[in-house]
Amino acid sequence: MQNAFSEPQDINVLMRQGHIYIADIEELCIDLVRKHCRRLGRPVTVLEIGCASGITSQRLARELPEAKIIAHEEYAPFAALATERLRDTRVVLRSEPLSDLREPVDVILSAGAHHHLPSDYLHHARSLLRDDGAFVLADEFCPEYCTAEELAHLSRAPAIHLAHGYVLTSLDEIEQYRRAGTLPARAREMEGRRRRALWHWYRFVVDQAISGGHIEVAVAELQSARDDLVTGEEAEHKLAPSIVERQIALAGFHIARKHVLGPPQDPSLHSMITYELEAAR
Ligand SMILES: C[S@@+](CC[C@H](N)C(=O)[O-])C[C@H]1O[C@@H](n2cnc3c(N)ncnc32)[C@H](O)[C@@H]1O
Repeated sequence: MQNAFSEPQDINVLMRQGHIYIADIEELCIDLVRKHCRRLGRPVTVLEIGCASGITSQRLARELPEAKIIAHEEYAPFAALATERLRDTRVVLRSEPLSDLREPVDVILSAGAHHHLPSDYLHHARSLLRDDGAFVLADEFCPEYCTAEELAHLSRAPAIHLAHGYVLTSLDEIEQYRRAGTLPARAREMEGRRRRALWHWYRFVVDQAISGGHIEVAVAELQSARDDLVTGEEAEHKLAPSIVERQIALAGFHIARKHVLGPPQDPSLHSMITYELEAAR
């Protein structure tokens, strides 16, 4: 963010000040990474996927002196900021495609990146993680919008595939879409509800930012809301936790614990979720 009177500011710094729950998520993630490093009780390697400008990895390097920290960022504008921030630290910054990383790791952290990444990144994350390791996956999801029937269907779905923003749930649906562009009615209905649930959430985030005087954050969130409301927009696509949980299972992970930040009595604002994942046995 920049105006005529100020230096450009790192949006990732501003988000920690003006986006509700982001600073809390960071504290939780650092606690959970620390917990898993202690549990493993050996010199560990921690990989942060989507480190943006490197703020959390910089902290991890300070707080976990025994651990090797690898920070990964493919998005060039953020990788440039991370290069600066991490220059005099012992964090190893990697900016090639995630799929090129090969070194086995003990703990993976990803915060705020899942909804930007292609879902096959989860399979690569599983291949990097040692069998007794942990993956702390935190993100801003779309508050749940699936019906009870859809939840039951999703929990057994043999595949989750995004077809220009529409969620397909079997190889047969994927094949029909590829051949004739046919979408199941369920996929269209879910997308309609996703957009409404999403707007309700973004409105809350923007109201909170404005009332705290964080105008830059409000503007950035309005841009994200605009992108996210466009079906099939790749830069920004938040899905219901139930869909993400199926992606997680299909990639070979088991959800050991789930932490939800938000008003306990209002599930329509349950967007900020942190999962502790382990390898499925
Ligand atoms: C909000 S940042 C993650 C926040 C970060 N973990 C932090 O601690 O500040 C979103 C991540 O999604 C990925 N990404 C991919 N495409 C992007 C895009 N067009 N805009 C922003 N992030 C993008 C990047 O890896 C980026 O680090």
